[in-house]
Amino acid sequence: MSAYEFTDHVYDVVVVGAGGAGLRATLGMAEQGLRTACISKVFPTRSHTVAAQGGIAASLGNMGPDSWQWHLYDTVKGSDWLGDTDAMEYLAREAPKAVYELEHYGVPFSRTEEGKIYQRPFGGHTTEFGEGPPVQRTCAAADRTGHAILHTLYGQSLKQQAEFYIEYFATDLIMSEDGVCQGVIAWKLDDGTMHRFSAKTVVLATGGYGRAYFSATSAHTCTGDGGGMVARQGLPLQDMEFVQFHPTGIYGAGCLITEGARGEGGYLTNSEGERFMERYAPTYKDLASRDVVSRCMTMEIREGRGVGKDSDHIHLHLDHLPAEALAERLPGISESARIFAGVDVTKEPIPVLPTVHYNMGGIPTNYWGEVLNPTADNPDATVPGLMAVGEAGCASVHGANRLGSNSLIDLVVFGRAAAIKAGKVVDPNAANPDMNPASVEKAMERFDTLRNASGATPTAELRLDMQKAMQADAAVFRTDKTLAEGVEKMTAIAGRLSDVKVTDRSMIWNSDLMETLELANLMPNALATVVAAEARKESRGAHAHEDYPDRNDAEWRVHSLAVVDNANVTLNTRPVHLDPLSTQEEGGIDLAKIAPKKRVY
Ligand code: FUM
Repeated sequence: MSAYEFTDHVYDVVVVGAGGAGLRATLGMAEQGLRTACISKVFPTRSHTVAAQGGIAASLGNMGPDSWQWHLYDTVKGSDWLGDTDAMEYLAREAPKAVYELEHYGVPFSRTEEGKIYQRPFGGHTTEFGEGPPVQRTCAAADRTGHAILHTLYGQSLKQQAEFYIEYFATDLIMSEDGVCQGVIAWKLDDGTMHRFSAKTVVLATGGYGRAYFSATSAHTCTGDGGGMVARQGLPLQDMEFVQFHPTGIYGAGCLITEGARGEGGYLTNSEGERFMERYAPTYKDLASRDVVSRCMTMEIREGRGVGKDSDHIHLHLDHLPAEALAERLPGISESARIFAGVDVTKEPIPVLPTVHYNMGGIPTNYWGEVLNPTADNPDATVPGLMAVGEAGCASVHGANRLGSNSLIDLVVFGRAAAIKAGKVVDPNAANPDMNPASVEKAMERFDTLRNASGATPTAELRLDMQKAMQADAAVFRTDKTLAEGVEKMTAIAGRLSDVKVTDRSMIWNSDLMETLELANLMPNALATVVAAEARKESRGAHAHEDYPDRNDAEWRVHSLAVVDNANVTLNTRPVHLDPLSTQEEGGIDLAKIAPKKRVY
């Protein structure tokens, strides 16, 4: 029996994570009268969504013609035809409603002269099904849109009596013998107590795993905790090979410079002062999609046209834009450039480099957020009682590459969808099932083993080895050789988790143990990424494989599934959903418009 004592809590719904998706789900659940708890390892408004800058995509049409069908087309093309069509349609159709809801909740969006929500252009967002000029679809609150959304959703959730458990670290899911999720175990960081949360539905909204890499725009808290919890239950992770590099991380520091900077007229140059994107993407230039721009920057550097004394980065120019426009529309990144690159954006270019930014893959779900555990008979079989939303989940709307500003809209559309679904399936009058003691015992054995780990490798050393291997071998460009090396290195690194050393045995503010638990979550995410990348013999979206430079729809228009058991990964596939939600007669899209074709910008 576990030596740990528990405080027990009983809820209809427990949401793990208080970023944009977690808070939107929490708010929606509480609004419907479900007893809702939200557990977060950081104070809610410190969640990584607070760092989202440029904006949230929705076809409001405030700055010129737009339609949800164009948004859908751009998302399908952006995904390099790997997204699920039903989920992408749901996203594009529901986006305007979800943004107006945010406006009514109080998000302080920037405004047009007429008082409408201000929208800016972002990469890959177009008009006329890719035939027309870039569209202004990205709704912005200056360049602090995530900050504005997060604070508003937290305030609204409190107003609806959602209960927050702040600085609680969720360690593991509690599952019944027959695979129903019954709750979650959490460690309260400031007093060392352990907690069991019983829930009819658990929603994982734990964000991405950017910190599996050495250089990332992601917060240090982005450690794939939900993916880790799911992997430990033998459930699959989906499309993990697709990791987004944002074109404009500040060189050396990794902090984000929003794509909104190029949306407002910024452009990239090489060492010859050339606006090189004009060569690679003649129509949309610097506003091509992110995977394309990141690859072009990498090619310029490889071919010796990088800037700086080591010719190893690129310049982003805003110095031609009026200082007042920069102060009004891009105040946050002007400050970041000054602090982290010592640059006055009104006078000098910002040194930038593609930097890990987003995980397209994650916990597979349908568009209601229900977690999938595909079987041979049913590729869309769900796990009762378990949902995942936001970057932790894979609905899959981003497929092989996400368009900028489609992340914030994913958070609120699918956080909201999970709440709508829970409102239909969770009975507030039903009793909570007893929690499976064997599942609790197993989770606490793992916790105790890590707490008392007395191996030879400090957590920080193992984490650095993982981050360096991922950075080197699962990069913007990949080859059979780098990926095979990556698999070998990462398999060995994951194996060394059993040799980790934790020096602090206490339970109160034990950051050594917390970082070790986070590393144990990062590890299956990282391993699944490199193993799935090694297996995918084509190039698609963010997966640019130099030995297989073309997309191969005949063999590879499938989702990858990875089940991770310690250092072993078993791969499988799941069909892509090709059918939209509505037919053309019902006002839906003409399927011919979204049929696969060569992806050029
Ligand atoms: O560039 C940005 O502002 C990031 C937006 C996003 O990732 O969607």
